[in-house]
Amino acid sequence: MSSQLNINEFLKYKSKGIFFTYKNGRIEINFDNSIGLKTFYLDERKYFYLKKHITKKQPLISAIITKRFRPNIVLDLTAGFGFDAIQLAIYGISVICIEKNFAIFSMLKEYIGRIGLVDMEVATRIRPIFGDAKEILHEVGTKIPYPDVVYLDPFFSGYQMRRTKEKKYMQVIKLLAEDKDNNLDELFEGACEITNSRVVIKRAPNADVAYTKKVRLEYQIKGRGHRFDVYIKK
Ligand SMILES: C[S@@+](CC[C@H](N)C(=O)[O-])C[C@H]1O[C@@H](n2cnc3c(N)ncnc32)[C@H](O)[C@@H]1O
Repeated sequence: MSSQLNINEFLKYKSKGIFFTYKNGRIEINFDNSIGLKTFYLDERKYFYLKKHITKKQPLISAIITKRFRPNIVLDLTAGFGFDAIQLAIYGISVICIEKNFAIFSMLKEYIGRIGLVDMEVATRIRPIFGDAKEILHEVGTKIPYPDVVYLDPFFSGYQMRRTKEKKYMQVIKLLAEDKDNNLDELFEGACEITNSRVVIKRAPNADVAYTKKVRLEYQIKGRGHRFDVYIKK
């Protein structure tokens, strides 16, 4: 799929009270008063914060890197604004991340470009790809290398977090995403097929455990308001 700038993809949000501008060297979003959100943009300060505060004890990092296992390549099938991918890249891992929503992808790509201006080494480890992961999974082995870990952070269906608790960036992702179907079954099957070693899913704390014969659930790591299920290929 082409990721050429298509202005209509941004203009279509106007009727929902969501307005994109390119200002201060970055993509910014303004919202109608009825939405109740202030101007939003992906901020380099968030990057510096992550770089300074991230530790091995954090659930995402301990789900993906262990004493005995350190992946070279992670394939993130649900990139969003890339915060999970960025944290892995800070840890020296190359992350290929796929996002199917054009507006979210454009913001992600532009953000990684800006991170590149302050930390080239980390930015070059992140390769954003525009498209639907269900289709792009077929390119693994040709255009995309086989990953050591496939990472999934789908929308939490049926789990309503209190709005005051939900991070602003996640509120924005939900406003922008046209389709909040978590398409987990299909993505999980595909992920188990192509991974060299592991599949990690970020799930709601009360979600069922996904199951397929190709992998076994090795362990779970509980975070605040979420859980990581770590599967190993049989
Ligand atoms: C919960 S958010 C992920 C947040 C992300 N981990 C972060 O750190 O910002 C889920 C994202 O996955 C994307 N998504 C859902 N299904 C997808 C698919 N089949 N292919 C690519 N992206 C998908 C959605 O558009 C949304 O941006």
